Amino acid sequence: MKLRQWTTVGAVAVATVAALNTVPATASRPYDPTAQSLATLGLRHGLHVGTAVNMDALNDASDPQYRKLVTSEFSSVTAENVMKWESLEPTRGSYNWGPADQLVDFAKRNRQSVRGHVLVWHNQLPAWLTSGVADGSISKQELRELLRKHITTVVNRYKGKIWQWDVVNEAVSDPWDTPSTLHYKGFWAEHLGPGYIADAFRWARAADPKALLFYNDYNIEAFGSGNPADDKTQFVYDMTKSLRARGVPIDGVGSQGHLGTQYGNFDTLQVTAALKKFAGLGVATAFTEVDVRSQLTAAVQAGNAEEINPRLQASAANFSVLMKACLAVRSCLSYTVWGFSDNHSWVPGWFDDPPEGLATIYDENYQPKRAYHELKSDLIFAGPPYVQPRVAPKPRR
Ligand code: G3I
Repeated sequence: MKLRQWTTVGAVAVATVAALNTVPATASRPYDPTAQSLATLGLRHGLHVGTAVNMDALNDASDPQYRKLVTSEFSSVTAENVMKWESLEPTRGSYNWGPADQLVDFAKRNRQSVRGHVLVWHNQLPAWLTSGVADGSISKQELRELLRKHITTVVNRYKGKIWQWDVVNEAVSDPWDTPSTLHYKGFWAEHLGPGYIADAFRWARAADPKALLFYNDYNIEAFGSGNPADDKTQFVYDMTKSLRARGVPIDGVGSQGHLGTQYGNFDTLQVTAALKKFAGLGVATAFTEVDVRSQLTAAVQAGNAEEINPRLQASAANFSVLMKACLAVRSCLSYTVWGFSDNHSWVPGWFDDPPEGLATIYDENYQPKRAYHELKSDLIFAGPPYVQPRVAPKPRR
Protein backbone atom coordinates (compact mmCIF):
# COMPACT_ATOMS: atom_id res chain seq x y z
CA MET A 1 0.00 0.00 0.00
CA LYS A 2 1.38 3.40 -0.93
CA LEU A 3 1.44 5.81 2.00
CA ARG A 4 0.56 8.72 -0.28
CA GLN A 5 -2.73 7.03 -1.16
CA TRP A 6 -3.97 7.50 2.38
CA THR A 7 -5.32 10.64 3.94
CA THR A 8 -5.19 11.26 7.67
CA VAL A 9 -8.54 12.44 8.93
CA GLY A 10 -7.43 12.91 12.52
CA ALA A 11 -6.76 16.64 12.15
CA VAL A 12 -10.24 17.18 10.75
CA ALA A 13 -11.68 15.20 13.64
CA VAL A 14 -9.82 17.22 16.24
CA ALA A 15 -11.06 20.45 14.65
CA THR A 16 -14.63 19.12 14.57
CA VAL A 17 -14.50 18.13 18.22
CA ALA A 18 -13.12 21.49 19.18
CA ALA A 19 -16.09 23.05 17.42
CA LEU A 20 -18.55 20.72 19.10
CA ASN A 21 -17.17 21.30 22.61
CA THR A 22 -17.96 24.95 22.62
CA VAL A 23 -18.02 25.20 26.42
CA PRO A 24 -14.40 25.00 27.58
CA ALA A 25 -13.53 23.19 30.79
CA THR A 26 -12.91 25.53 33.68
CA ALA A 27 -11.93 24.92 37.28
CA SER A 28 -15.56 25.31 38.31
CA ARG A 29 -16.87 23.29 35.34
CA PRO A 30 -14.39 20.48 34.55
CA TYR A 31 -14.66 18.61 31.25
CA ASP A 32 -16.91 15.59 31.81
CA PRO A 33 -16.48 13.04 28.99
CA THR A 34 -19.42 10.99 30.20
CA ALA A 35 -21.68 13.93 29.38
CA GLN A 36 -20.55 13.91 25.74
CA SER A 37 -22.40 12.13 22.94
CA LEU A 38 -21.17 9.03 21.15
CA ALA A 39 -20.68 11.26 18.11
CA THR A 40 -18.39 13.68 19.91
CA LEU A 41 -16.42 10.97 21.66
CA GLY A 42 -16.00 9.03 18.41
CA LEU A 43 -14.69 12.05 16.55
CA ARG A 44 -11.81 12.29 19.08
CA HIS A 45 -10.51 9.28 17.15
CA GLY A 46 -11.78 10.41 13.76
CA LEU A 47 -14.37 7.64 14.08
CA HIS A 48 -17.95 8.19 12.97
CA VAL A 49 -20.54 6.58 15.21
CA GLY A 50 -23.69 6.15 13.18
CA THR A 51 -27.17 4.70 13.19
CA ALA A 52 -29.62 3.29 10.69
CA VAL A 53 -32.61 5.63 10.47
CA ASN A 54 -36.24 4.60 10.21
CA MET A 55 -37.85 7.49 8.32
CA ASP A 56 -41.34 6.83 9.71
CA ALA A 57 -39.97 7.20 13.23
CA LEU A 58 -37.96 10.28 12.27
CA ASN A 59 -41.15 11.93 10.99
CA ASP A 60 -43.38 10.84 13.86
CA ALA A 61 -44.31 14.01 15.74
CA SER A 62 -45.56 11.93 18.66
CA ASP A 63 -42.09 10.39 19.09
CA PRO A 64 -39.78 13.43 19.35
CA GLN A 65 -37.11 11.60 21.35
CA TYR A 66 -36.23 9.49 18.29
CA ARG A 67 -35.31 12.52 16.19
CA LYS A 68 -33.56 14.14 19.14
CA LEU A 69 -31.25 11.16 19.67
CA VAL A 70 -30.51 10.65 15.95
CA THR A 71 -29.44 14.30 15.89
CA SER A 72 -27.46 14.43 19.11
CA GLU A 73 -25.77 11.03 19.46
CA PHE A 74 -24.63 10.15 15.95
CA SER A 75 -22.27 11.66 13.39
CA SER A 76 -23.35 9.38 10.55
CA VAL A 77 -26.70 8.07 9.31
CA THR A 78 -27.77 5.18 7.08
CA ALA A 79 -31.19 4.76 5.49
CA GLU A 80 -32.65 1.60 7.02
CA ASN A 81 -34.96 1.05 4.04
CA VAL A 82 -35.64 4.13 1.92
CA MET A 83 -32.64 3.83 -0.42
CA LYS A 84 -33.46 0.25 -1.38
CA TRP A 85 -34.59 -0.35 -4.94
CA GLU A 86 -38.21 -1.25 -4.05
CA SER A 87 -38.52 2.09 -2.21
CA LEU A 88 -36.82 4.21 -4.85
CA GLU A 89 -38.51 2.76 -7.95
CA PRO A 90 -41.71 1.00 -6.88
CA THR A 91 -43.11 1.38 -10.41
CA ARG A 92 -40.80 0.98 -13.38
CA GLY A 93 -39.44 4.32 -14.49
CA SER A 94 -41.20 6.24 -11.72
CA TYR A 95 -38.98 7.27 -8.82
CA ASN A 96 -39.92 8.00 -5.23
CA TRP A 97 -37.00 10.11 -4.04
CA GLY A 98 -38.79 11.94 -1.24
CA PRO A 99 -37.80 9.94 1.87
CA ALA A 100 -34.19 9.37 0.75
CA ASP A 101 -33.79 13.05 -0.16
CA GLN A 102 -35.20 13.95 3.23
CA LEU A 103 -32.60 11.87 5.04
CA VAL A 104 -29.74 13.31 3.01
CA ASP A 105 -30.99 16.86 3.72
CA PHE A 106 -31.45 16.05 7.42
CA ALA A 107 -27.86 14.78 7.60
CA LYS A 108 -26.54 17.90 5.91
CA ARG A 109 -28.39 20.18 8.33
CA ASN A 110 -26.93 18.22 11.25
CA ARG A 111 -23.43 17.94 9.79
CA GLN A 112 -23.69 14.16 9.64
CA SER A 113 -22.11 11.87 7.06
CA VAL A 114 -24.29 9.49 5.07
CA ARG A 115 -23.68 5.80 4.41
CA GLY A 116 -25.67 4.97 1.28
CA HIS A 117 -27.48 1.64 1.64
CA VAL A 118 -27.86 -0.17 -0.72
CA LEU A 119 -27.30 -0.35 -4.48
CA VAL A 120 -27.30 -4.09 -5.24
CA TRP A 121 -29.02 -6.62 -3.01
CA HIS A 122 -31.26 -9.61 -3.65
CA ASN A 123 -33.86 -8.43 -1.09
CA GLN A 124 -36.36 -5.59 -1.27
CA LEU A 125 -36.27 -5.49 -5.06
CA PRO A 126 -39.33 -4.03 -6.81
CA ALA A 127 -41.96 -6.58 -7.79
CA TRP A 128 -41.97 -5.34 -11.42
CA LEU A 129 -38.31 -6.36 -11.67
CA THR A 130 -38.47 -9.80 -10.06
CA SER A 131 -41.74 -10.77 -11.75
CA GLY A 132 -40.46 -9.51 -15.11
CA VAL A 133 -37.42 -11.77 -14.80
CA ALA A 134 -39.54 -14.69 -13.58
CA ASP A 135 -42.01 -14.51 -16.48
CA GLY A 136 -39.29 -13.94 -19.08
CA SER A 137 -40.42 -10.46 -20.10
CA ILE A 138 -37.08 -9.07 -18.86
CA SER A 139 -34.13 -10.81 -20.54
CA LYS A 140 -30.71 -11.24 -18.92
CA GLN A 141 -29.28 -8.58 -21.19
CA GLU A 142 -32.04 -6.16 -20.24
CA LEU A 143 -31.60 -7.01 -16.56
CA ARG A 144 -27.92 -6.11 -16.69
CA GLU A 145 -28.80 -2.82 -18.38
CA LEU A 146 -31.48 -2.13 -15.74
CA LEU A 147 -28.92 -2.68 -12.99
CA ARG A 148 -26.44 -0.33 -14.67
CA LYS A 149 -29.16 2.30 -15.02
CA HIS A 150 -30.29 1.89 -11.41
CA ILE A 151 -26.78 2.29 -10.00
CA THR A 152 -25.99 5.21 -12.29
CA THR A 153 -29.24 7.04 -11.55
CA VAL A 154 -29.10 6.64 -7.77
CA VAL A 155 -25.39 7.38 -7.35
CA ASN A 156 -25.70 10.38 -9.64
CA ARG A 157 -28.59 11.84 -7.69
CA TYR A 158 -26.60 11.81 -4.46
CA LYS A 159 -23.21 12.50 -6.01
CA GLY A 160 -20.99 14.32 -3.54
CA LYS A 161 -23.42 13.73 -0.67
CA ILE A 162 -22.65 10.11 0.21
CA TRP A 163 -19.53 9.25 2.20
CA GLN A 164 -19.68 5.47 1.85
CA TRP A 165 -21.90 3.48 -0.51
CA ASP A 166 -22.82 -0.13 0.18
CA VAL A 167 -22.50 -1.07 -3.48
CA VAL A 168 -23.02 -4.82 -3.16
CA ASN A 169 -24.69 -6.41 -0.14
CA GLU A 170 -24.71 -10.03 1.05
CA ALA A 171 -23.57 -11.66 -2.18
CA VAL A 172 -22.10 -14.72 -0.46
CA SER A 173 -23.98 -17.77 0.86
CA ASP A 174 -23.86 -19.17 4.40
CA PRO A 175 -22.83 -22.66 5.49
CA TRP A 176 -26.50 -23.49 6.17
CA ASP A 177 -27.49 -22.79 2.55
CA THR A 178 -27.64 -25.46 -0.15
CA PRO A 179 -25.09 -26.36 -1.33
CA SER A 180 -23.21 -25.81 1.94
CA THR A 181 -19.96 -25.01 0.14
CA LEU A 182 -19.80 -21.21 0.11
CA HIS A 183 -20.76 -19.64 -3.20
CA TYR A 184 -22.22 -16.49 -4.73
CA LYS A 185 -25.93 -16.63 -4.00
CA GLY A 186 -29.18 -14.86 -4.75
CA PHE A 187 -31.05 -13.16 -7.55
CA TRP A 188 -28.12 -11.32 -9.15
CA ALA A 189 -25.65 -14.21 -9.17
CA GLU A 190 -28.36 -16.55 -10.47
CA HIS A 191 -29.33 -14.30 -13.35
CA LEU A 192 -26.12 -12.44 -14.21
CA GLY A 193 -23.33 -14.61 -12.77
CA PRO A 194 -20.78 -13.27 -10.26
CA GLY A 195 -19.40 -10.78 -12.78
CA TYR A 196 -22.16 -8.37 -11.68
CA ILE A 197 -20.09 -7.53 -8.58
CA ALA A 198 -17.17 -5.97 -10.48
CA ASP A 199 -19.62 -4.31 -12.89
CA ALA A 200 -21.53 -2.74 -10.00
CA PHE A 201 -18.40 -1.19 -8.48
CA ARG A 202 -17.29 0.16 -11.86
CA TRP A 203 -20.70 1.69 -12.59
CA ALA A 204 -20.85 3.26 -9.12
CA ARG A 205 -17.36 4.74 -9.54
CA ALA A 206 -18.25 6.14 -12.94
CA ALA A 207 -21.15 8.01 -11.34
CA ASP A 208 -19.30 9.34 -8.26
CA PRO A 209 -15.50 9.59 -8.27
CA LYS A 210 -15.33 10.48 -4.57
CA ALA A 211 -17.62 8.18 -2.59
CA LEU A 212 -15.98 5.25 -0.81
CA LEU A 213 -17.38 2.07 -2.35
CA PHE A 214 -18.04 -0.82 0.03
CA TYR A 215 -18.88 -4.50 -0.10
CA ASN A 216 -21.13 -5.23 2.92
CA ASP A 217 -21.97 -8.57 4.57
CA TYR A 218 -22.81 -10.35 7.84
CA ASN A 219 -20.95 -13.13 9.67
CA ILE A 220 -17.57 -11.78 8.60
CA GLU A 221 -16.45 -10.37 11.96
CA ALA A 222 -13.63 -12.90 12.39
CA PHE A 223 -11.83 -15.58 10.39
CA GLY A 224 -12.70 -19.24 10.99
CA SER A 225 -11.06 -22.26 9.43
CA GLY A 226 -9.39 -20.25 6.68
CA ASN A 227 -10.96 -22.56 4.11
CA PRO A 228 -13.10 -20.49 1.70
CA ALA A 229 -15.41 -23.49 1.29
CA ASP A 230 -16.78 -22.97 4.82
CA ASP A 231 -15.20 -19.74 6.15
CA LYS A 232 -17.28 -16.81 4.93
CA THR A 233 -14.73 -14.23 6.08
CA GLN A 234 -12.04 -15.99 4.07
CA PHE A 235 -14.35 -16.15 1.04
CA VAL A 236 -15.03 -12.40 1.24
CA TYR A 237 -11.33 -11.71 1.81
CA ASP A 238 -10.40 -13.72 -1.30
CA MET A 239 -13.11 -11.98 -3.30
CA THR A 240 -11.87 -8.54 -2.21
CA LYS A 241 -8.28 -9.47 -2.98
CA SER A 242 -9.23 -10.65 -6.43
CA LEU A 243 -11.31 -7.52 -7.14
CA ARG A 244 -8.43 -5.29 -6.03
CA ALA A 245 -5.94 -7.27 -8.11
CA ARG A 246 -8.13 -6.70 -11.17
CA GLY A 247 -8.30 -2.96 -10.53
CA VAL A 248 -11.98 -2.96 -9.56
CA PRO A 249 -12.75 0.23 -7.57
CA ILE A 250 -13.68 -1.34 -4.24
CA ASP A 251 -12.56 0.88 -1.33
CA GLY A 252 -13.96 -0.88 1.71
CA VAL A 253 -15.45 -3.94 3.33
CA GLY A 254 -18.33 -3.45 5.75
CA SER A 255 -18.88 -6.00 8.46
CA GLN A 256 -22.51 -5.77 9.53
CA GLY A 257 -22.12 -7.07 13.08
CA HIS A 258 -25.53 -8.64 13.69
CA LEU A 259 -24.71 -10.70 16.79
CA GLY A 260 -26.74 -12.67 19.33
CA THR A 261 -26.00 -13.33 22.99
CA GLN A 262 -26.95 -17.01 22.53
CA TYR A 263 -23.95 -17.56 20.25
CA GLY A 264 -20.26 -17.82 21.05
CA ASN A 265 -19.35 -14.70 19.09
CA PHE A 266 -15.79 -13.35 19.27
CA ASP A 267 -13.19 -11.68 21.44
CA THR A 268 -11.61 -8.34 20.66
CA LEU A 269 -8.32 -9.76 19.44
CA GLN A 270 -10.01 -12.08 16.92
CA VAL A 271 -12.00 -9.21 15.47
CA THR A 272 -8.97 -6.90 15.46
CA ALA A 273 -7.00 -9.52 13.55
CA ALA A 274 -9.73 -9.76 10.90
CA LEU A 275 -9.92 -5.98 10.42
CA LYS A 276 -6.13 -5.82 10.13
CA LYS A 277 -6.07 -8.53 7.52
CA PHE A 278 -8.61 -6.65 5.38
CA ALA A 279 -6.62 -3.44 5.92
CA GLY A 280 -3.65 -5.31 4.44
CA LEU A 281 -5.53 -5.37 1.13
CA GLY A 282 -5.57 -1.56 1.14
CA VAL A 283 -9.30 -1.30 1.84
CA ALA A 284 -11.11 0.61 4.56
CA THR A 285 -13.31 -1.28 6.99
CA ALA A 286 -16.41 -0.38 8.99
CA PHE A 287 -18.99 -1.94 11.26
CA THR A 288 -22.15 -1.12 9.43
CA GLU A 289 -25.20 -2.67 11.14
CA VAL A 290 -24.32 -3.56 14.71
CA ASP A 291 -26.91 -5.00 17.07
CA VAL A 292 -26.78 -7.82 19.61
CA ARG A 293 -30.07 -9.61 20.11
CA SER A 294 -31.21 -12.02 22.83
CA GLN A 295 -33.84 -14.70 23.12
CA LEU A 296 -36.94 -13.42 24.88
CA THR A 297 -37.72 -16.43 27.05
CA ALA A 298 -40.96 -16.52 29.02
CA ALA A 299 -39.00 -15.37 32.09
CA VAL A 300 -37.51 -12.43 30.18
CA GLN A 301 -40.96 -11.46 28.97
CA ALA A 302 -42.26 -11.72 32.54
CA GLY A 303 -39.58 -9.24 33.65
CA ASN A 304 -37.37 -11.67 35.59
CA ALA A 305 -34.20 -9.67 36.34
CA GLU A 306 -32.08 -12.81 36.74
CA GLU A 307 -32.81 -13.66 33.10
CA ILE A 308 -32.68 -10.12 31.75
CA ASN A 309 -29.49 -8.84 33.40
CA PRO A 310 -27.06 -11.42 31.98
CA ARG A 311 -28.48 -10.77 28.52
CA LEU A 312 -28.01 -7.03 28.83
CA GLN A 313 -24.50 -7.61 30.13
CA ALA A 314 -23.62 -10.01 27.31
CA SER A 315 -25.09 -7.67 24.74
CA ALA A 316 -23.00 -4.79 26.08
CA ALA A 317 -19.86 -6.94 25.97
CA ASN A 318 -20.44 -7.83 22.33
CA PHE A 319 -21.10 -4.23 21.29
CA SER A 320 -17.87 -3.39 23.08
CA VAL A 321 -15.79 -6.12 21.39
CA LEU A 322 -16.61 -4.69 17.97
CA MET A 323 -15.99 -1.12 19.12
CA LYS A 324 -12.61 -1.90 20.68
CA ALA A 325 -11.48 -3.78 17.59
CA CYS A 326 -12.61 -0.92 15.37
CA LEU A 327 -10.75 1.61 17.49
CA ALA A 328 -7.61 -0.52 17.34
CA VAL A 329 -7.44 -0.55 13.53
CA ARG A 330 -6.93 2.81 11.86
CA SER A 331 -8.69 1.84 8.65
CA CYS A 332 -11.95 1.19 10.55
CA LEU A 333 -13.76 4.41 9.66
CA SER A 334 -17.21 4.04 11.21
CA TYR A 335 -19.28 2.09 13.69
CA THR A 336 -22.97 2.09 12.85
CA VAL A 337 -25.74 0.56 14.94
CA TRP A 338 -28.75 -0.89 13.12
CA GLY A 339 -31.31 1.18 14.97
CA PHE A 340 -30.57 2.49 18.45
CA SER A 341 -33.73 1.77 20.46
CA ASP A 342 -35.68 -1.43 21.06
CA ASN A 343 -38.97 0.18 19.95
CA HIS A 344 -37.53 0.68 16.44
CA SER A 345 -35.49 -2.46 15.84
CA TRP A 346 -35.94 -4.91 12.98
CA VAL A 347 -35.17 -7.83 15.34
CA PRO A 348 -38.56 -8.60 16.98
CA GLY A 349 -40.31 -8.50 13.60
CA TRP A 350 -37.80 -10.86 12.05
CA PHE A 351 -36.99 -13.40 14.75
CA ASP A 352 -40.23 -14.61 16.27
CA ASP A 353 -39.71 -18.34 16.82
CA PRO A 354 -38.28 -18.22 19.43
CA PRO A 355 -38.87 -14.52 19.93
CA GLU A 356 -35.79 -12.32 20.10
CA GLY A 357 -35.19 -8.69 20.99
CA LEU A 358 -33.27 -6.40 23.40
CA ALA A 359 -30.87 -5.88 20.50
CA THR A 360 -30.04 -2.18 20.70
CA ILE A 361 -28.27 0.31 22.98
CA TYR A 362 -31.41 2.08 24.33
CA ASP A 363 -34.52 0.42 25.70
CA GLU A 364 -37.99 1.03 24.27
CA ASN A 365 -38.34 4.14 26.48
CA TYR A 366 -35.06 5.61 25.20
CA GLN A 367 -33.21 4.84 28.40
CA PRO A 368 -29.55 4.05 27.68
CA LYS A 369 -28.57 0.48 28.46
CA ARG A 370 -25.25 -0.95 29.60
CA ALA A 371 -24.33 -1.33 25.94
CA TYR A 372 -24.56 2.43 25.45
CA HIS A 373 -22.37 3.07 28.49
CA GLU A 374 -19.81 0.45 27.39
CA LEU A 375 -19.52 2.05 23.95
CA LYS A 376 -19.06 5.39 25.62
CA SER A 377 -16.38 4.17 27.97
CA ASP A 378 -14.56 2.42 25.10
CA LEU A 379 -14.43 5.76 23.30
CA ILE A 380 -13.39 7.67 26.41
CA PHE A 381 -10.62 5.38 27.60
CA ALA A 382 -9.01 4.79 24.21
CA GLY A 383 -6.01 6.71 22.95
CA PRO A 384 -2.41 6.51 21.75
CA PRO A 385 -0.32 4.47 21.33
CA TYR A 386 -2.80 1.69 20.57
CA VAL A 387 -5.65 3.84 19.28
CA GLN A 388 -4.66 6.38 16.65
CA PRO A 389 -6.70 8.65 14.37
CA ARG A 390 -8.41 7.01 11.41
CA VAL A 391 -6.83 6.85 7.97
CA ALA A 392 -9.14 6.69 4.98
CA PRO A 393 -8.15 5.43 1.55
CA LYS A 394 -8.39 7.72 -1.42
CA PRO A 395 -11.30 6.48 -3.56
CA ARG A 396 -9.86 4.09 -6.11
CA ARG A 397 -10.22 5.09 -9.76
O1 G3I B 1 -43.12 -1.04 3.52
C1 G3I B 1 -43.96 -2.14 3.91
C2 G3I B 1 -45.29 -1.62 4.32
O2 G3I B 1 -45.90 -1.05 3.20
C3 G3I B 1 -46.10 -2.79 4.87
O3 G3I B 1 -47.33 -2.33 5.33
C4 G3I B 1 -45.36 -3.48 6.01
C5 G3I B 1 -46.11 -4.70 6.54
O4 G3I B 1 -45.22 -5.63 7.10
O5 G3I B 1 -44.14 -3.90 5.53
C6 G3I B 1 -43.32 -2.83 5.08
O6 G3I B 1 -42.14 -3.34 4.63
C7 G3I B 1 -41.21 -3.77 5.61
C8 G3I B 1 -39.91 -3.02 5.37
O7 G3I B 1 -38.92 -3.50 6.26
C9 G3I B 1 -40.06 -1.52 5.54
O8 G3I B 1 -40.46 -1.22 6.83
C10 G3I B 1 -40.98 -5.27 5.46
O9 G3I B 1 -42.16 -5.97 5.83
C11 G3I B 1 -39.84 -5.71 6.33
O10 G3I B 1 -39.54 -7.07 6.04
C12 G3I B 1 -38.61 -4.86 6.04
O11 G3I B 1 -37.58 -5.30 6.90
C13 G3I B 1 -36.30 -4.74 6.65
C14 G3I B 1 -35.34 -5.85 6.21
O12 G3I B 1 -34.04 -5.30 6.04
C15 G3I B 1 -35.79 -6.48 4.89
O13 G3I B 1 -34.89 -7.40 4.44
C16 G3I B 1 -35.79 -4.14 7.94
O14 G3I B 1 -36.62 -3.01 8.30
C17 G3I B 1 -34.35 -3.68 7.80
O15 G3I B 1 -33.83 -3.34 9.06
C18 G3I B 1 -33.51 -4.85 7.25
O16 G3I B 1 -32.19 -4.37 7.08
C19 G3I B 1 -31.23 -5.33 6.61
C20 G3I B 1 -30.18 -4.57 5.84
O17 G3I B 1 -30.78 -3.80 4.82
C21 G3I B 1 -29.12 -5.53 5.24
N1 G3I B 1 -28.56 -6.36 6.26
C22 G3I B 1 -29.51 -7.06 7.12
C23 G3I B 1 -30.50 -6.07 7.74
C24 G3I B 1 -31.41 -6.76 8.70
O18 G3I B 1 -32.20 -7.70 8.02
